Amino acid sequence: MDVIALCRNYREVHRALLPRLLAHHLGRRLRSRGSASSSIPPPLSPGWLRDEVLTLGQFTADWFSVNISHLYPALSGMTRPFRRYLEIGCYEGLSTVWFGAFLRRSCSAPELVCIDPFAGYPQPGEQRGTQVEANFDANISRFLGDLSITKINKPSLTALPALIETAEVFDVVYVDGSHRSLDVMTDAVLAWRLLADRGLMIFDDYLWAPRGEADRPLPAVNAFLDLLDGRCRAIDCYHQAIIEKLR
Ligand SMILES: C[S@@+](CC[C@H](N)C(=O)[O-])C[C@H]1O[C@@H](n2cnc3c(N)ncnc32)[C@H](O)[C@@H]1O
Repeated sequence: MDVIALCRNYREVHRALLPRLLAHHLGRRLRSRGSASSSIPPPLSPGWLRDEVLTLGQFTADWFSVNISHLYPALSGMTRPFRRYLEIGCYEGLSTVWFGAFLRRSCSAPELVCIDPFAGYPQPGEQRGTQVEANFDANISRFLGDLSITKINKPSLTALPALIETAEVFDVVYVDGSHRSLDVMTDAVLAWRLLADRGLMIFDDYLWAPRGEADRPLPAVNAFLDLLDGRCRAIDCYHQAIIEKLR
C-alpha cells in the first residue's frame, strides 16, 4: 500500500480525519467485507436492511447500507447513552429505520426527530414530488411504528433554530440534507448547538464529488472542523465523517 499516494489522492481531507481515512483503506486491504460486518447483529446488518427493509418497504434508493459497517462500531463505542437522534434529510426513511432499529435494541424510550421538506428539495438522483414523503410515512409506520418519531416537514434552516429555541438536546445528529457547501455549514453550526457533549455528529457524503463539483459537503466540513479547533475528536472517516463533540 502506497500511503503517500493515498494521501495525495485525499489531499483535501481534513488533517484531523486523514489518519482515520488511511486506517480505513489499510483495514480494507487486511480484511474481507464479509468479516467486517459479521459482528453486526442480524437485525442491524446490511443484509437485514437489504433483505427485510428494502424488500418489504417502499424504497426507490439505497444510499445507506454501505455505511453500516462504520456506523455500528461508532455508535456502539459511544461514551454517553444514545437515546435522542436528530436526522437532517430523511428522504424515504432508510437511514431513519436503521437508526431506529439500533435505538430499539440499545435503550428503552428512544426519540427520533426527522427534518426534511420532502417535495421541492431534491438532490441529484432523487425523485421529486409528494411520493417521497408518502414513502417515508409508510416506512416509518411499518418499521418504527412502536417508537416516538417527530417528523418536521420544513427545511433545516427553519427547523433547527426552532429546536434550539426549545433547548432540545440530541446524542447523535445525522447530517444528510442539502449537500451544498453553505447549507452543510449552516446545518453543522446550528446542529452543533443541539448536540450533547460526547455526542456524535455524522456527515454523510463527506467525500462525495460528482464530476468534480466544488459545491459539496467536504469544504464545509473541513472549515467547520477548523472552527471547532480541538473541541471535537475524529471517530471515523470513509465516505462519511464521524466526529465526537468534546465540549
Ligand atoms: C440524500 S437524501 C437523504 C437520504 C437518507 N438520509 C437515507 O440515507 O436514506 C437528502 C434529503 O435531504 C433533503 N433536503 C434537501 N434540502 C434540505 C434542507 N434544506 N433541509 C432539510 N432537508 C433537506 C431532501 O429532501 C432529501 O430527502
